[in-house]
Amino acid sequence: MEGYIFDLDGVLVDTAKYHYLAWKTIAQEFGFELTPAHNEQLKGIGREVSLHKILQWAAKTLPENEFQSLALRKNELYLQYIAHIDNSELLVGVADFLQTLKSKGKKIALGSASKNARLVLERTGILPLFDAIVDGTMVTQAKPNPEVFLKAAELLQLPPAQCCVFEDAPAGVQAAKAAGMRVIGVGEEQVLCAADEVIPNFSSFVLHNS
Ligand code: BG6
Ligand code: MG
Repeated sequence: MEGYIFDLDGVLVDTAKYHYLAWKTIAQEFGFELTPAHNEQLKGIGREVSLHKILQWAAKTLPENEFQSLALRKNELYLQYIAHIDNSELLVGVADFLQTLKSKGKKIALGSASKNARLVLERTGILPLFDAIVDGTMVTQAKPNPEVFLKAAELLQLPPAQCCVFEDAPAGVQAAKAAGMRVIGVGEEQVLCAADEVIPNFSSFVLHNS
């Protein structure tokens, strides 16, 4: 493989918990208790689609202006959570693995639904390691659509078959498979069973495997 494409939240950085806390606070405001099981279904999904899902679970409808202001407020809460993050939020083994890829001349890209992706990469100090970044501001179709990963491969100037994706969310695994890429799930085997391989984290990952 020549290209390595990473999801952000829950793969490179431990920010999935902050998305969860922010959505939990928003949901509580209209009396809905968001559980970790609900949150699993929000991983990898864009901001507005996430709010639509939560409202559906809560059997609630909102006028467009209130919908937009809730989505905005969720982001403000999230930004407060990540205001002071640094490289200690990088998940185990990530920094070493990115350096290994660099030293072997591999190409590195980001394929994330988040509109805050650049900010998070900057704050955690890994932005300079990326050859290409595709984030939530650059795609029209959310995961499980393959657009985000196909765009990343295009920016790396590599065919999809030469790219390996790392994902922590079922929607992202589906997107990578639909893009014709090898996908390595980072997390739990039973959640990510559609991936080609599942690893608990990067400390146990050996590059020649893929
Ligand atoms: C994904 C997260 O990476 O980005 C989702 O897994 C999040 O939880 C989505 O909703 C959109 O992020 P943001 O930062 O644009 O609200
Ligand atoms: Mg993720």
